[in-house]
Amino acid sequence: MKVTVYNCREFDEKELFVKYGKEYNIELVLCPDAPDKENASLAKGSDCIDIITSKMPADLLEVFASYGVKYVTTRTIGYDHIDLAAAKKLGITVANAPYGPCGVADYAVMLILMTIRKMKRIMERTNIQDYTLKGIQGRELKDLTVGIIGTGRIGRTVLKNLSGFGCKLIAYDIYENEEVKNSGIPYVTLEEMWQQADVISLHAPLTEDNFHLIDENAIAKMKNGVMIVNTARGGLIDSQALIAGIESGKVGGAGLDVVENEFGLYYYDHKSDILSNRELAILRGFPNVTVSHHMAFYTDECVKTVVRDSLLGCRLFVEGKENPWEVK
Ligand code: NAI
Repeated sequence: MKVTVYNCREFDEKELFVKYGKEYNIELVLCPDAPDKENASLAKGSDCIDIITSKMPADLLEVFASYGVKYVTTRTIGYDHIDLAAAKKLGITVANAPYGPCGVADYAVMLILMTIRKMKRIMERTNIQDYTLKGIQGRELKDLTVGIIGTGRIGRTVLKNLSGFGCKLIAYDIYENEEVKNSGIPYVTLEEMWQQADVISLHAPLTEDNFHLIDENAIAKMKNGVMIVNTARGGLIDSQALIAGIESGKVGGAGLDVVENEFGLYYYDHKSDILSNRELAILRGFPNVTVSHHMAFYTDECVKTVVRDSLLGCRLFVEGKENPWEVK
């Protein structure tokens, strides 16, 4: 069997693909670029393609279907970049490759700490040997209420990680989790979340229902100086509303591993380009907003897991076996 891998990174993934390709007896076509209508022909003769977060709209899926592709696996947890309805119509099965929650959860805690301790300002100062203190006084987690939105695998791990810091924890999810409730962390409504949280950390997938969950309206209801951390998906926050919130001082800081319209920017070298995402340019410029390029997942453990499990999923699919990673 043959699998065509897109966005295959030479420096960290290629060796793993070769190793697991051999182990699962899969012939591989490794392409460094994102899938598009031109390079889709590389998938001729492959039952499966293996992608990352590049957009997979209906017209592109149609091209792959015309080459005989029946299975698309994404080396990510989220799969909102794939048009699932179109895939279903075309008879293409979609799968993801979830990895352990610890990498992203660690990173979320790091962004929370960086935000409440004004780390971006501190680092900028030490880099230019400005060792003054004015404007970099932080806050202590034990004095704060941290609200977690989305108590799935990552959100629950963040709750566990934070439990040692002595902060008050509250949670919101459309489905309440018994483990969270049993640990004494209260579920609150969104309204209560906005009213009570000093720090809000997002861990929900992006769906049609929660697009711009944090918008102008929500921000208006939040505590003055609220700090917002997003390691989930950019579309959960209305960037314009966040910019207005930062400018007015209502929002005291943010840590953003993801932003709206990051597709095509993140994971590419754009240093000589005029940035095509105006909101990102503005947010990045604020001294109290830490931006990173969708890399909370990026640990040795996560990369190994996604390469291995995405290929194993292809093998199970082709053999008609039960596939735990199939998106249903
Ligand atoms: P999960 O599926 O285990 O948990 C998601 C939770 O969100 C579930 O409990 C679900 O009920 C809840 N949820 C769904 N819709 C909601 C809504 N409208 N409001 C509140 N809660 C809602 O997923 P996991 O593994 O915890 O990942 C969470 C998200 O983190 C992913 O969907 C993905 O978007 C993002 N992510 C980001 C990464 C990064 O590198 N920055 C890496 C991995 C995941």
